[in-house]
Amino acid sequence: MKNEQEKQKVLAIINEVGKDPSFLIQVLNAIQEEQGYIPRSVQELVAREMKIPFSRVFEVSSFYSRFTTEPKGKYEISVCLGTACYVKGAQLLLDDLKAMLGIVENQTTPDGLFTLIASRCIGACGIAPAILVNHDVHGFVTREMLPELLDSYRSRKDAGEDEE
Ligand code: FES
Repeated sequence: MKNEQEKQKVLAIINEVGKDPSFLIQVLNAIQEEQGYIPRSVQELVAREMKIPFSRVFEVSSFYSRFTTEPKGKYEISVCLGTACYVKGAQLLLDDLKAMLGIVENQTTPDGLFTLIASRCIGACGIAPAILVNHDVHGFVTREMLPELLDSYRSRKDAGEDEE
């Protein structure tokens, strides 16, 4: 945990949502939303405050892909591995992105720009294979398109454009 202020925020969330162990997922959800990630130190604090074994908090935090232990990148790339996308080569897209970015799923590039996620159906099966970058849906994606796709987001950063 970075500092006392962050700790107080987490404690406030726990108090607001509830300390009963049955609220664990709701508490983790609220922390993820508020802080953007749930590092180990925060998991330990949650375990202490809610009187839950750390192993349980760790298990739940690791099970759901929406919980991350690192800050997310500016652009979250979700490669859909749902059936429609998978049969059209989505795994190859994911593998290429891993190689191009030098990270694996649920990791963020060292420059903080991209986080790579393997996701379930994103509701764009008609344009499979599909990739979601933050709120932008890209359809009929080919391996050849990936360098340009990444560059288009890199150049937004270079140009100082920030739509968020
Ligand atoms: S399976 Fe990929 S968008 Fe539905």
